[in-house]
Amino acid sequence: MSGKFITFEGPDGAGKDSVLDAIVPELRAQLGDKLVVTREPGGDPIAEQIRDVILDPQNTAMDDRTEALLYAASRRQHLQDVVEPALARGAVVLCDRFVDSSVAYQGAGRQIGEQAVFDLNQFATNGLQPDLTVYLDVPSEVGLARIEQHRKDTQYDRLDQEELTFHKRVRAAYQRLAKANPQRIVTIDATKPLNQVIDDVRSLLRHHVVTD
Ligand code: TYD
Repeated sequence: MSGKFITFEGPDGAGKDSVLDAIVPELRAQLGDKLVVTREPGGDPIAEQIRDVILDPQNTAMDDRTEALLYAASRRQHLQDVVEPALARGAVVLCDRFVDSSVAYQGAGRQIGEQAVFDLNQFATNGLQPDLTVYLDVPSEVGLARIEQHRKDTQYDRLDQEELTFHKRVRAAYQRLAKANPQRIVTIDATKPLNQVIDDVRSLLRHHVVTD
């Protein structure tokens, strides 16, 4: 594989979507069809159907391990259909969430176990790792307050309804992952004003995405 696989991670309310909204058009202008932007869960027709099942607010009876398996299944399909073909043709793949989300949300948030969820995902991904992971770090109180502000115009999803303690476990797991994988995961302080966060991400990507 000759392309570059870059993932974006962070707890809810870190501002990941706003940062991507700003960065993607700039990268598109530089890279054209050498850029593939995608997201998890979802990103292709089968994986999107799995996403709908996972995030349906009516599925309150979903078992935690079922949830982890569905995320892994959606990830597998998405890798096969979208990510691996794009990397094989040398594209830069920007993926909104990947295995770290499962380790943080299912492993730590749902308390299934970070190692168990990591192992499950090794099977799903056949060990594929991102070349770079941009981790937007924000305290849980700040992230949840931001979500609350946007409630009016966005839909609730099942995970956004979880309490502060869930989000704290998610953030702590992300911080552990960042500490354990310093060569892959770069932490960006997402408490800064959005423009500064965008600048930080922009300069990070400038170092990692080779343009002519
Ligand atoms: P989404 O609406 O895409 O939120 P965001 O913009 O924050 O990425 O919903 C994705 C939700 O799914 C989000 O709350 C995180 C969660 N998630 C997991 O719990 N495990 C995973 O493996 C992935 C990919 C996402």
